[in-house]
Amino acid sequence: MRTKIVAGNWKMNKAASEAAALIEGIKNATADAAGVEVVVCPPFTGLKDAAAACAGSHVKLGAQNVHWEPSGAYTGEISAGMLKDLGVTHVIIGHSERRQYFGETDETVNKRTKAALAAGLVPLVCVGETLGERDAGQMDEVVVRQIKLGLADLDIAKVVIAYEPVWAIGTGRTASPAQAQEAHALIRRTLAEMAGGDVANGVRIQYGGSMKPENAKELMGQPDIDGGLIGGAALTADSFAAIVMAGV
Ligand code: 13P
Repeated sequence: MRTKIVAGNWKMNKAASEAAALIEGIKNATADAAGVEVVVCPPFTGLKDAAAACAGSHVKLGAQNVHWEPSGAYTGEISAGMLKDLGVTHVIIGHSERRQYFGETDETVNKRTKAALAAGLVPLVCVGETLGERDAGQMDEVVVRQIKLGLADLDIAKVVIAYEPVWAIGTGRTASPAQAQEAHALIRRTLAEMAGGDVANGVRIQYGGSMKPENAKELMGQPDIDGGLIGGAALTADSFAAIVMAGV
């Protein structure tokens, strides 16, 4: 049995001064979420306050990106060691918004994931096709490529994957449970090819893209959907907690 994992990707929302209150609300509202791993991923500036708010609780702390080098002349970047030092345990890597706006490639996803693993962070590696790619019948090809290149030459057993179809992110257009399950099963078959069936069966694959309290239970009820990576609905404690509780 895979432990479900529900993570809130706050994206570029919530100042440091707002982080603790949201986390307090999430802590209280998810106190009974036995068996679901709960993670919040504030912007870098909120991590220190968020770490204090998460301390001693069941809520774990993630960042939204990490550089692959341990230190050096990389203006504006943050290393895995710096994240560990703050109490961060998880990190989102290769989100489609980073691929779309900030030049993220499968190669840089691979480097970041290796750096996260070397520091003992749990990478949440995002994959997913655009609407154009889906309409062109290329979903399989795109997702398999992102998995094979992004996770090349590393310990796949230690990675969490998030399948986020780009056309479902922030659009209100959720993948149907059947569409999501089809992609998740494809990802698991690809992992099995790369690392063997036992490893593939142990890897958690989250769904992301307009996941809400209303659709979370059915999505997480699919055999290969092991949680969610939540954007908009992670910005209020009530909606995020309702999604977490749908995974219990
Ligand atoms: P929404 O839940 O706002 O669609 O965002 C999903 C996402 O990108 C999470 O990383």
